[in-house]
Amino acid sequence: MRKLLPLIGTPHGGGRSALTCRYRCGDACFHEVPNTSGNEYVGDVIARAYSRRSMLRTAAVVTVATAAGTAAAVGGSGSPANAAPVADALAAGGAGDAAGARGLRFTPVAPNTHDRVTVPAGYEQHVVIRWGDPIVKGAPAFHPDRQTAAAQAGQFGYNNDFLALLPLGSRYERRQLLVANHEYTDEQLMFRGYDPENPTREQVEIAWAAHGLGVVVVQEDHRSGRLTAVNRHPLNRRLTATSEFRLSGPAAGSDLVKTSADPSGTRVLGTLNNCSGGTTPWGTTLHGEENFNQYFANAGKVTDPVQAARLKRYGVTSGASERKWERFDKRFDVLQEPNEPNRFGYVVELDPYDPHSVPRKRTALGRFKHEGAEPRLTEDGRPVVYSGDDERFDYFYKFVSSKRMMKGDSRAAKEHNLTLLDEGTLYVAKLTGDSPAAEFDGTGKLPADGAFDGSGTWIKLATASPSGNVSHVEGMTAEEVFVFTRQAADKAGATKMDRPEDIQPSPRTGRVYLALTNNSDRGKPGKPGVDEANPRNINKHGQILEFAENFDDPAGDGFAWRLFLVAGDPNDPSTYFAGFPKDKVSPISCPDNVAFDPHGNLWISTDGNQLGSHDGLFGVATAGPRRGELKQFLTVPRGAETCGPLVQDKRILVAVQHPGEVDGASVEKPASAWPDGPGKLVRPAVVAVWRKDGKNIGV
Ligand code: FEO
Ligand code: CA
Ligand code: CA
Ligand code: CA
Repeated sequence: MRKLLPLIGTPHGGGRSALTCRYRCGDACFHEVPNTSGNEYVGDVIARAYSRRSMLRTAAVVTVATAAGTAAAVGGSGSPANAAPVADALAAGGAGDAAGARGLRFTPVAPNTHDRVTVPAGYEQHVVIRWGDPIVKGAPAFHPDRQTAAAQAGQFGYNNDFLALLPLGSRYERRQLLVANHEYTDEQLMFRGYDPENPTREQVEIAWAAHGLGVVVVQEDHRSGRLTAVNRHPLNRRLTATSEFRLSGPAAGSDLVKTSADPSGTRVLGTLNNCSGGTTPWGTTLHGEENFNQYFANAGKVTDPVQAARLKRYGVTSGASERKWERFDKRFDVLQEPNEPNRFGYVVELDPYDPHSVPRKRTALGRFKHEGAEPRLTEDGRPVVYSGDDERFDYFYKFVSSKRMMKGDSRAAKEHNLTLLDEGTLYVAKLTGDSPAAEFDGTGKLPADGAFDGSGTWIKLATASPSGNVSHVEGMTAEEVFVFTRQAADKAGATKMDRPEDIQPSPRTGRVYLALTNNSDRGKPGKPGVDEANPRNINKHGQILEFAENFDDPAGDGFAWRLFLVAGDPNDPSTYFAGFPKDKVSPISCPDNVAFDPHGNLWISTDGNQLGSHDGLFGVATAGPRRGELKQFLTVPRGAETCGPLVQDKRILVAVQHPGEVDGASVEKPASAWPDGPGKLVRPAVVAVWRKDGKNIGV
């Protein structure tokens, strides 16, 4: 039987419509929280650490005043050994520019509900590419009533999310390679007369082809920031839910990922629900497979208790799936192909410069609802990849490669660098607050030391190595850790966070920023209560965590952290903007994607604004006297989420995802007329924004 949906207009998790919840994450917020593990949360740890500290009053507490006037206090008996040096990294700020943070000098866009992309005065914007635009040779122009799977497989996919722009070399100075994730499909807004109970084979096959990844060459206008897609370029490419992918790394070939169609356990058809991602220093892109669980059916009928528990921890659909794909391909039915879901939920690595390359699912980075995957290098040249697991009360992770990146673009370097993410160690984060638990009452009131802050430990889960994979979790093999990473992290006692989304290291300071989008269940009866890193009950607006690893050794196991922003209406006393005066910032709700501009400012896009405005894009200084001054740069049309922000010197790119996705909307009853005006199908699209006078953004 079809799940009953709440009445139209009922607020959903975040400010989302019921339609978004259904199609994007399979109604994750209506299901039980999948993490029912009994591991402790920060509150318990703080209580213990504090009582120890009270007894050991002479224990050193390192307090460093920052340039912004806030304090980072790290230390005490509960801190990891190398937390003190990382406090210095967290405290380091820049002098900044008293006249305003460079890169953020624009008049902020006010919160609004305009059905368009609204940009600051003096800026211009246009659509670069939209769902259905042909990109591959032979693909037809989009026609809403002549959609076919073959046409869609050569056209730009649905619901663009993560974006990357990669250089094409000096010979092609004005051309760049645009890479996009196509997270999910919204059939009600794609197909006229769509019947969710009885999708046709053709509709299902079109949806398969509309998922996945897209690669398209874009051409810059020489006078403006305008970008135009170059149709039929040989590098243009679509990868879909039926394209060939390989599993690589420690779980490849394991019994846990073998199926009747793939007894080798190495060849997978497709990638699903790619949300955010990252760009590597060796020229590849990373793509997080997020809410993959919703595509698989019948987990509730599984009788084997071990398999049932594994499916439950990942929230795999108990009966029929929303899109009913299991009717058209048995691999989506866990009763028929029990291991097929184990082949999704990874970070995919794509070499977009080679149109024939087969993308790899990097199992060494673990399997969970990867929001994204963002790399950086250690001082000795080894990649570190951060990734959040977007679920209420789930965790954030890092992978540290045991191999060094080879510089240059020789064939040998390229081949070597494509092995970097197959060997190394996967860690999960555990956070300890430095203020007494009694100071957190769920309202978001700052503790007496003036900061939500503390220290953290990276707990080792497993190490992937050609000489033998090693599990660091008792009772689980290394392969089990890499495939059932959530359970491994439960056993390790990781910290339950408020939906960890995108993570981004600052290229200027090395500090890392993690968006925690919201958590409607925090503090509810029977659910974990607040702690110093997640300080609000029924957290509607989310927060951004800032952490610093030992800058000389981001592969180390200790870090210092503090909350950078506690989001919401600045008039709400629970909000916090790194100590910046709250009458001088824009309201923000539900941070999701994060990116840095060339000046070192953090840009945040939102998903599910709960303050009555459409979602938007915001810039904020992370160092200097204006640290915490948050300014809204744009808003998106009705029903849309702002995704994939990319901020270059002369241009900002955003992916406008699911425009018109409002309860009750359909092709016949559109809720938005974006981007092509009334009477035209609503189409997710990539938008570029630039300055009319040709100068750089925000200077
Ligand atoms: Fe696809 Fe966590 O947003
Ligand atoms: Ca504190
Ligand atoms: Ca997201
Ligand atoms: Ca990002």
